Amino acid sequence: AAAVAAVARSPFGTIVGPDPSPVAAVRSSLAAAAAAAAAGGGPERAAKRAAAGRLSVRQRLATLLDAGSFTETDALLSTSGEGGPVGEGVVTGYGTVGGRAVGVYAQDFTVLGGSLSGGHAAKIAKVMDGAVAAGIPLVGLVDSGGARIQDGVGALAGYTRIFRRAVAASGVVPQLSVVLGACAGGAVYAPALTDWVVMEAGGGSMFLTGPGVVRAVCREEVTGQDLGGAAVHARVSGVVGLVRAGEVDTLRAVRQLLSYLPSNWREAPPRVAAAAPAVDTDGGAGASVPDEDPALDTVLPSSADAPYDMVNILSRVMDAGSLFPMHHGWAPNVITAFARLGGRPVGVVANQPAHLAGVLDADASVKAARFVRFCDSFGLPIVTFTDVPGFLPGTAQEAGGVIRHGAKLLYAYAEATVPKLGVIVRKAFGGAYCVMSSKELGGDVNYAWPSAAVAVMGARGAVGVLKGGGANANTWEHPDLEAEAEYAVSYENPLAAVRCGELDAVIPARSTRRVLLADLERLVGKGRAGHVRAVLPKKHGCIPL
Ligand code: HXC
Repeated sequence: AAAVAAVARSPFGTIVGPDPSPVAAVRSSLAAAAAAAAAGGGPERAAKRAAAGRLSVRQRLATLLDAGSFTETDALLSTSGEGGPVGEGVVTGYGTVGGRAVGVYAQDFTVLGGSLSGGHAAKIAKVMDGAVAAGIPLVGLVDSGGARIQDGVGALAGYTRIFRRAVAASGVVPQLSVVLGACAGGAVYAPALTDWVVMEAGGGSMFLTGPGVVRAVCREEVTGQDLGGAAVHARVSGVVGLVRAGEVDTLRAVRQLLSYLPSNWREAPPRVAAAAPAVDTDGGAGASVPDEDPALDTVLPSSADAPYDMVNILSRVMDAGSLFPMHHGWAPNVITAFARLGGRPVGVVANQPAHLAGVLDADASVKAARFVRFCDSFGLPIVTFTDVPGFLPGTAQEAGGVIRHGAKLLYAYAEATVPKLGVIVRKAFGGAYCVMSSKELGGDVNYAWPSAAVAVMGARGAVGVLKGGGANANTWEHPDLEAEAEYAVSYENPLAAVRCGELDAVIPARSTRRVLLADLERLVGKGRAGHVRAVLPKKHGCIPL
């Protein structure tokens, strides 16, 4: 009778009156399993997390996905036998974000710390396969202590299964990982293999092993946040590409990020209605900027060495409110941001003279290289704004591998076949000129503002070398201003570059948006008739990792 009563309440069917058939027993088992799956790690753990202000795993999914769009898969998967967790501690399935389908998994920390068993891995692997088959992005909500210790090699093999799938899916569908709790071991390597790691500041953290193991092995006392919180990974290590405070805002940011991305590499990025740029007015909502914007003619400081915020230029060129910086806190001397130009998503790479004069160093190179490669994978045109005095010299950079890391950026730009549009707004010196989407790297359109300086190096260094004595010439302490002025006229301008075709044109700063809009419109079909330069037959290139 109890079984029948349970069935009457179960989602698997309502029976009117007593049902003595064997089907009733099956339905009763299903109902019990569903109840166990829904309970996760049990009411006590759930209450503890709720009291700590944390969302439950299903609340997280409801926040990420469009209302009512979630369809769960493998809710009752249970491979650990009697007493093992029904549902394996992870909720998987499909839903929509802004009306577009995504595959999702969300780990439930209340079930053995969200740790991964063979069955848990099987559920994730299945939804990964489903996302690739459907050509839709995969979003993982990660909250896990890593490989489940009790599962031994089954857990390790499970993670490896996921790693291999993530690699296979790389460049096929966008893969995002959202770190919402303390994550260790495989729970950090699985995100590291995806395109973007998003972290909730304060709630999320990532480390190979937690503070306990660090204490035991390294005799180091450290909190989880100091070891692998947002302050570390969004600013120093570069593991995290996007960070927000609070679970709700973090999940909303993931929705926003998805709005720039196509569902898979064969699809065009989603276009929206164009919106003229807008700039903040005092306390106002933002004044609309025309496509021909005279303010850009005077946006640069009068001194060629004075810092300024490149965002002021980007926000006058890109569609209103569309600039969406990634890796904002890491290597801020280069900006990598999604944006829209005439409603079309693009990737923006721009030197940031407000930090370290916009110089390229090892971290900035890796940051931009990764971004260029991502944009190229998913068909996002790359718009590059250059104001760079060069690669950062010095012992720390050399020992830190600036040569190796700078090479990544060269490689990424050279291989990218998406439309590449470039504007030199001020300086473009030396190797940094070459690397920032220059013509010989395959730039489709290359412009400079009239004030631009394109040269092998800046005047002071160049005069020292040209006067003889090479590195010993001390023009820094005793500048030769007359020679510098001559150098500026002869070399530090865009004239030579435009004469030899390395620049397509010198454009008035005010016309930047109008010109780029026209170019983008034309270049959308790039590659449909084949590429100008043939790709040599090979298995794959050997990117200088
Ligand atoms: C089994 C685990 C677990 C794990 C946590 N739990 N991690 N159970 N396997 N890997 C369980 C705990 O026993 C506890 O169970 C519950 O989850 C919550 O854990 P707490 O420690 O109480 O929570 P907290 O203080 O918030 O600390 C979270 C944590 C910590 C930082 C993640 O649990 C931790 O350090 N876990 C071990 C992390 C680790 O070293 N993993 C590496 C695995 S190796 P109860 O019953 O009390 O609720 C790996 C290799 C993969 O993943 C391959 C990589 C290439």
